Amino acid sequence: MSEITVGSHSSAITDWFEFKLNGELVLVEGVPPTMTLLEWLRRTGRTGSKCGCAEGDCGACTVAVLDRDTTGMGTYRALNSCIAFMPMFAGREVVSVEGLARGDQLHRQAVLARDVLRAP
Ligand code: FES
Repeated sequence: MSEITVGSHSSAITDWFEFKLNGELVLVEGVPPTMTLLEWLRRTGRTGSKCGCAEGDCGACTVAVLDRDTTGMGTYRALNSCIAFMPMFAGREVVSVEGLARGDQLHRQAVLARDVLRAP
């Protein structure tokens, strides 16, 4: 962690953060702020998400991100991980393709993510 002071305002900058991936808390350390989620997923061995266009057009890299409203009610939203930078996921909940199945059965998150992906 380092301290940055601008005028009379200072803030701490960390080189790590956590987010939930497929229901498990993940610690991310030392990644450049320009690394995309797709790059990170693939570099950490989660190769189910593919890189088709790398421009947000084809959907081969789609993940589901959980958004919660003020009451805590969650909604999964489809997001193209090839154009989403890692710092955007600090404290968030993400489901990648690896999180969609256990064995040969879909589980609840898969059903929710499937419905998001089918939405117009
Ligand atoms: S690789 Fe095509 S939308 Fe991400």
